[in-house]
Amino acid sequence: MKGIILAGGSGSRLSPSTLSVNKHLLAVFDKPMIYYPLSVLMLGGIKDILIICAPDDVSRFKGLLGNGESLGISITYEVQENPNGIPEALIIGEEFIGRDDVTLILGDNIFYGQGFTTLLRKAIQDHKHATVFGYRVKDPERFGVVEFDENKKVVSLEEKPNDPKSDFAVTGLYIYDHRAVDIAKRLSPSGRGELEITDLNKQYLAMDELDVQLLGRGFAWMDAGTHESLFEASEFVKNIQQRQGFKLACIEEIAYYLGNIDKQELREIGKFMSKTDYGQYLIDIANRKHIEQYWDEMDSHPMLEVSKYE
Ligand code: TTP
Repeated sequence: MKGIILAGGSGSRLSPSTLSVNKHLLAVFDKPMIYYPLSVLMLGGIKDILIICAPDDVSRFKGLLGNGESLGISITYEVQENPNGIPEALIIGEEFIGRDDVTLILGDNIFYGQGFTTLLRKAIQDHKHATVFGYRVKDPERFGVVEFDENKKVVSLEEKPNDPKSDFAVTGLYIYDHRAVDIAKRLSPSGRGELEITDLNKQYLAMDELDVQLLGRGFAWMDAGTHESLFEASEFVKNIQQRQGFKLACIEEIAYYLGNIDKQELREIGKFMSKTDYGQYLIDIANRKHIEQYWDEMDSHPMLEVSKYE
């Protein structure tokens, strides 16, 4: 399974903050936005990751994440010249995907909730053709909307409908087989001039090959694409972290937990930013005597689910 983070776009709804900074490098409370989707792919067990962004931003992402070695993963970069739509990520990533399956995540999407890692790992393992994730929202008309029949079978998908047939939005996390590349190539731009991911998903639906996993009320799904939602996401992260003492989307912690980096490497990264709570957090984890002790304390930590599952 390959992973792609789509981190291009124009970020116009976050202007002027995004006039000279890529949206996905802005902080969601204590870490860059892109750490959140990156942590999702890492928790899903994906080690080969492509980041797609605008030409000017490649060097900035590289400055932040490099080739992924310090996290025990591989990160490569490709350019999206213009925001031509989400399915273009699959066309740009054609060579990277090859004959593999791919998990695509939007760079401004944040997922959190007990059981999420388990659900994702299971979805990846059971995945056949196309899998998307549905989430109940108050304003479905802003999203791709999925309609079910009484047997919970998907019957329709609509992009930003005026009159939504359900309250379930399709989130920015998608798992596809490699055929998605060819399907994306055959799409035509919509009225707003973009290739639409809903059109691609509709093709899988027409072949009866679309699986929709629902994220229940115990999950949080947010995008941080407006000033309001960015602020709310930051508050959410701050509140959970302060309450529980665990960090969300701490990619170095996840790398350590997954066995990608050792204690010493974790400590070094922590020391590098020791003036921050983030750095101290990494040092604290590295200073624990046994990783088992750390696990014991993590009774409700989402990462514990990885070990339960494996
Ligand atoms: P959007 O929020 O739809 O668009 P945007 O990020 O350009 O922002 P705005 O509407 O404020 O101008 O994009 C959702 C995510 O997908 C976001 O993380 C950016 C990414 N994206 C791309 O990288 N390339 C694209 O062509 C599109 C449409 C989105």
